[in-house]
Amino acid sequence: MKALVKERPEAGLRLVDVPEPTPGPGEVLIRVLRTGICGTDLHIRKFDDWARHTLKLPLIVGHEFSGEVVEVAPGVDNIAVGDLVSGEGHIVCGTCRNCMAGRRHLCRNTVGLGVHRDGAFAEYVTLPASNVWVHRTPVDPDVAAIFDPFGNAVHTALSFPLVGEDVLITGAGPIGLMAAAVATHVGARNVVITDVSDERLDLAAKLGVTLALNVRRGTVAEGMRRLGMREGFDVGLEMSGSPQAMRDMIANMTHGGKIAMLGLPAEEFAIDWATVVTSMITIKGIYGREMFETWYNMSVLLEKGLDLSPVITDRFSYQDFDAAFDTAASGRTGKVILDWSGGARPERARTEPTKAGAAATMSTRGGARPERARTEPTQAGAAADTNRSA
Ligand SMILES: NC(=O)c1ccc[n+]([C@@H]2O[C@H](COP(=O)([O-])OP(=O)(O)OC[C@H]3O[C@@H](n4cnc5c(N)ncnc54)[C@H](O)[C@@H]3O)[C@@H](O)[C@H]2O)c1
Ligand SMILES: [Zn+2]
Ligand SMILES: [Zn+2]
Repeated sequence: MKALVKERPEAGLRLVDVPEPTPGPGEVLIRVLRTGICGTDLHIRKFDDWARHTLKLPLIVGHEFSGEVVEVAPGVDNIAVGDLVSGEGHIVCGTCRNCMAGRRHLCRNTVGLGVHRDGAFAEYVTLPASNVWVHRTPVDPDVAAIFDPFGNAVHTALSFPLVGEDVLITGAGPIGLMAAAVATHVGARNVVITDVSDERLDLAAKLGVTLALNVRRGTVAEGMRRLGMREGFDVGLEMSGSPQAMRDMIANMTHGGKIAMLGLPAEEFAIDWATVVTSMITIKGIYGREMFETWYNMSVLLEKGLDLSPVITDRFSYQDFDAAFDTAASGRTGKVILDWSGGARPERARTEPTKAGAAATMSTRGGARPERARTEPTQAGAAADTNRSA
């Protein structure tokens, strides 16, 4: 099969032929349909210090994907051949204290798909059944491919109650954009998003934020005044990794404000701790997604009409991966998708959405669809229960 591989300790990736993987005990073999390019993949292509210290080569990269199940190991009975699935890329140990208590997102021995084990930028990928999320309501495979970063956005955005609150999001990258869509959808009052890229702020405006602010030209305080806000933001979602963005956020929170911090700063930096203390601000670090509560939230948000389609701005065939990676690295686009389906059009494609909400996420593009999207249980709740017990 074709796969994007980091072969040697140098910059770049190569598209090469590698043996098809075989599913081990308790695993599932998935034919990859679409993949999303993440910042992590850009670090790996560049082979920066982090990549140099983290990766064991050769490695098939990639962790954001959607695909169709083609084989399940004996004993896996909640996933069927033909299911449209996404994958949770954090593979946990199952035996540490947090795993034993059901808090798998807090596992201290997490193994990363496409980082510590062969990933999804390939025609086929294997994954433990317990990491597979089956889509039981129709979802565009492009959107299903970005459930991993969508999950980062949902995990962060739903960390604190948002209904009726004024929310500041710093960073309008793909994850900040999705968080803005979620915050608006669930009933925040003002959703203000900041960035230094006009292209990304234009995308944010399309998602219906209250204010998309370029912090090179105006301050957050000015933005608040424009909206008639007097006391500061109730909730902050830090999604840039920029020290200045975090400082701006702390300076503009209300007393008792809550900050959920997803952005990964490149190095240590100073903040105004006196303000954190005297304003009694809560800062919560966020990593990955809750397994599988965040996944349940994601499926239900889409089912109830959340539209992520404006966030996906660029699509490439996997053969054009270098152009796709360059586009993602430009910092001006939304999510960039690679198509691995080779334009194949399955015989039986389910295209008629059962709910208005699902309709919003159905693609109008003529991409390949999985042959059989499993649709029997109509309740998203049923889907989540099955996955949780996986
Ligand atoms: N904690 C986790 O589990 C996790 C998972 C995925 C990504 N991340 C991190 O989350 C962040 C968002 O991810 P992404 O893929 O959307 O990243 P991204 O790099 O595409 O987006 C970050 C955005 O922040 C903007 N920015 C830079 N300086 C700014 C400033 N002073 N004020 C406001 N915005 C500013 C950039 O222009 C960019 O558009 C990144 O830092 C990433 O490393 C964390
Ligand atoms: Zn990612
Ligand atoms: Zn563990």
